[in-house]
Amino acid sequence: MEKMWSGRFSASGTKLLDQFNASIMFDRKLYREDIEGSIAHATMLEKQSILTKEELTQIVNGLAQVKAEIESGEFEWKISDEDLHMAIEKRLTAIIGDAGKKLHTARSRNDQVAVDFRRFVLRKNFEIVDAIKLLMQEILVVASKHTETILPGMTHLQHAQPINFGFHLGAYLSMFVRDIERFESSYKRNNISPLGCAALAGTPHNIDRAKTAELLGFDSVSLNCLDTVSDRDFALEILFNISTMMMHISRLSEELVMWSSYEFAFIELSDEYSTGSSIMPQKKNPDVPELLRGKTGRVYGSLMGLLTVMKGLPLAYNKDTQEDKEGVFDAVETAEISLEILKEAIKTMQVKTHNMKNASKVGHLSATDLADYLVQKCNIPFREAHFITGRAVAKSEELKIDLSDIEFKYLQEIDARINEDVLKFLSIENSMNARISSGGTATVRTKEQLEYFTNYLKEK
Ligand code: ARG
Repeated sequence: MEKMWSGRFSASGTKLLDQFNASIMFDRKLYREDIEGSIAHATMLEKQSILTKEELTQIVNGLAQVKAEIESGEFEWKISDEDLHMAIEKRLTAIIGDAGKKLHTARSRNDQVAVDFRRFVLRKNFEIVDAIKLLMQEILVVASKHTETILPGMTHLQHAQPINFGFHLGAYLSMFVRDIERFESSYKRNNISPLGCAALAGTPHNIDRAKTAELLGFDSVSLNCLDTVSDRDFALEILFNISTMMMHISRLSEELVMWSSYEFAFIELSDEYSTGSSIMPQKKNPDVPELLRGKTGRVYGSLMGLLTVMKGLPLAYNKDTQEDKEGVFDAVETAEISLEILKEAIKTMQVKTHNMKNASKVGHLSATDLADYLVQKCNIPFREAHFITGRAVAKSEELKIDLSDIEFKYLQEIDARINEDVLKFLSIENSMNARISSGGTATVRTKEQLEYFTNYLKEK
């Protein structure tokens, strides 16, 4: 089987070489981008009188046939064709004859693959944003129902201050907004056409790069061809964007796993999104969030992999770059299924508000409120107030009660400046609702935050 580039060779490569060198097993995923890129290129060549009208028509019709063959499963993907670019061009030429041989005028596989892969990644930036929005919608539904559901807010995984569950989920919504913005900014920065850069230095043909850029939906043409054919920043960016998003998903997943335990019992995942054990009949395992946590590691691997591939490359295109695709394909698929299953798991989970509330009655969550009371009502410096409150906590421990249930007489023994009105400041509800500073957990503030997310999703 003769290779397209066989002119200067006297012996043909081995099967082993084909196997090692080929990307056709995975880059065939880019067939739509490749065919659209070729149609745009040919359309421009005709406009510039490099192809005739007749040739353009043949190319466009031929490519439509190739596309139909690929989509019906008829197309023969052969390792000996090396990559999808050559496989498609070869098949096109077999269908339409000589006009097919003119398609590659003023083009190289180097700008061709840069166009195909870049457009795939750009599209995925968009599609992932849409999937994040759907997840956010579901989180918002749950959050909106629970702006008065109190649970212990934690630092160091220790009970800290009471917050509401809507506020807790709002933290994740904030993360997902940042994720969306990252995907969108990558899209804007990278929506630049590589087509016409040819192998590395441009072409002597009278091409119109702005035309192909326009036909393919790019905002502009790239500035420097040498950079463009070897630039894979767009791929690294989507890997980083997915990695960061998965890190957020992983943190939420970790909480879902914890909350599903008997020790927390804050939520119960639905049967549809839980799994059993092959040996312990009683088990109901949170495999979904665990696997989401695990898959995050796999995505980081793809990011590290491509960063490493790129780090030592001289300009311009090097075959190393062919290693850019599989990690991105895998990360994108992982992101898509992760967003969808997390959305379903959240939509169908049960929130055990009673257990959340009970947990808030352990650990003296309103201790800071006592200190704040001493500052605000008794004009005691905060450091001193902190100490007095510590005494009150110690007393509660001794009495084996929560600080929110302490009797006034004990507080007055500790410091005579304390008034009876202190008790209402010590309730867990009051403590949560007292945090009315901007961005705070008070139900009114939480509702404002959730309204922001609702509007954000509406405007998008
Ligand atoms: N299959 C190659 C890749 O994925 C296409 C570009 C090949 N270019 C070349 N000059 N060998 O990167």
